Amino acid sequence: NLPDIQPPQVDWASGAFADGPLLSKSTRLRDLAGIFADEPARQQLPGEQVIYDVEMLATSPAEGELYTGVTHLYPGRVGGEYFMTRGHFHARREQGEVYFGLRGNGLLLLQNEQGEARLEKVFTGSVHIIPGFTAHRLINTGGEVLSALAVWPGVAGHDYAALANGFALRVMVSSEGWEVHHD
Ligand code: 6PG
Ligand code: NI
Repeated sequence: NLPDIQPPQVDWASGAFADGPLLSKSTRLRDLAGIFADEPARQQLPGEQVIYDVEMLATSPAEGELYTGVTHLYPGRVGGEYFMTRGHFHARREQGEVYFGLRGNGLLLLQNEQGEARLEKVFTGSVHIIPGFTAHRLINTGGEVLSALAVWPGVAGHDYAALANGFALRVMVSSEGWEVHHD
């Protein structure tokens, strides 16, 4: 009798996990009140529309253990602003994370505790080292799904309230594709 040596499996092209113990969460437009610059435009779009899905392996959240998940951020705009994740600091501020671009094109918005923001392009094969003490948000500037694999500490948690006033910059539609607006 051979032991079961089949590990979890992800399709690199789509970011889809094969069958297994998965946790899934869909974030819809109605969950993102106040996140986009043009709140009236958000209210005119269907609240049940899914903006992003997160699927993660159901592994241990204990100190020292790691979570693995994929975010699928759909293409679209609210007013002149590209679809994006809510964005967060980790509740355990010192905990970092690594993102890997799988498909689509977008941006990773990073912001430190001093409020200094910067962007990294996300594309197939891009690798993003998110340091500790750094908030992060994905933005889909392309016309297809943006999927990114992430690995982060099980103890990291999420602090959304610390960004209640938003990030220091927004990525808006422009004739060039996208442009940065500073709040
Ligand atoms: C995490 C990861 C990632 C993130 C999703 C959704 O720390 O869990 O950064 O899985 O949670 O991309 O983004 P929001 O948590 O900001 O909605
Ligand atoms: Ni995170």
